[in-house]
Amino acid sequence: MFKGIFITLEGLDGSGKTTQIKRLAKWLALHGLETVLTRQPGGTPTGDRIRALLLDSRGTGIAPMTEMALMFADRAQAIAEVILPALESGKVVLCDRFTDSTEAYQGGGRELGSEPVLALHKLICGNLQPDLTLLLLTDLEPSLERARNRNQRIDENIGPDENRFELEQEAFHRRVWEKYHEIAAREPNRVILIEGELSIDKVHERIVEAVAKLLKEKQVG
Ligand code: TYD
Repeated sequence: MFKGIFITLEGLDGSGKTTQIKRLAKWLALHGLETVLTRQPGGTPTGDRIRALLLDSRGTGIAPMTEMALMFADRAQAIAEVILPALESGKVVLCDRFTDSTEAYQGGGRELGSEPVLALHKLICGNLQPDLTLLLLTDLEPSLERARNRNQRIDENIGPDENRFELEQEAFHRRVWEKYHEIAAREPNRVILIEGELSIDKVHERIVEAVAKLLKEKQVG
């Protein structure tokens, strides 16, 4: 058992995680809790290089297994360099994406299945589990619409052949969304599902409610 608290944020691209994680960090600071903010992929010098490799290879046909292996390589480094040291010294770690992302995107989206992801998590991450996972999932149709609009904007900037929101991508998005739901149903004690088209303030309220409950249970703050 560590002294610290490990909280992860999850959701589809464009779900507002980044805004919420910053607001939560401010709230924790106001309550006098020392917080380490990190994200995956990235968050360490080695991880940033892995992130660049992953983002550069978008569209160049990176194999799903390669993608999954790189996500775990990044995570192993983040755990060793950032997450464990912070937890051992009693800090709150806020991590933007963790293994649930690999299960949703590579397991669900890329159809590798949950099994290899969970097995690798045991082997590579010592099965480290967050104390709490905040999963922001808007309804599927509006989130597909936002992704379409985002890709259209990108198309206008770099030409129509890149990043087109093709049918395949739509099916991918749907599989990620479904896998996230499956994870939430499987682990209701760890995962707080914040669903629907809620305002930024409302989502923050829900997050704070869940975090305050956790702090109380852990007798922190
Ligand atoms: P990023 O720009 O950080 O997006 P976001 O702000 O939505 O988190 O890009 C991270 C991308 O990597 C995002 O599309 C999700 C994907 N990803 C995976 O496919 N598997 C993983 O294990 C992780 C951590 C991220």
